[in-house]
Amino acid sequence: MTAVRTGVRAADIADETAVAIEVGGEPVCLARSGGRLYAIRDVCSHADVALSEGDVEDGTIECWLHGSRFDLASGRPTGLPATRAVPVYAVTTEGEARDSQVFVDLSPATTPATISQESR
Ligand code: FES
Repeated sequence: MTAVRTGVRAADIADETAVAIEVGGEPVCLARSGGRLYAIRDVCSHADVALSEGDVEDGTIECWLHGSRFDLASGRPTGLPATRAVPVYAVTTEGEARDSQVFVDLSPATTPATISQESR
């Protein structure tokens, strides 16, 4: 699959926030943290709730329901109750800084992983 134009301007995603979009029928959470854009599947791996409604901080997003945090770069949970990673997707932008458009490629999604006992 190739990168798909999301219809979102990079400038419209404020730092330490997330928005919910759909790409090819998939729910995707577009987030910005530390100035960097991330795309992660917008479904918590613990239960079927949107991660985009959680708080973004220091490269992670917190699930609003039970509080697991997910690393936005790897999709891995950093604490319980979630134990499985959420797929992450490649994000690119095109265009001038102010009007640059966000593209997401669903194909390189990471393989879900499990957090180790040591990190619980
Ligand atoms: S639904 Fe996300 S941590 Fe439980």
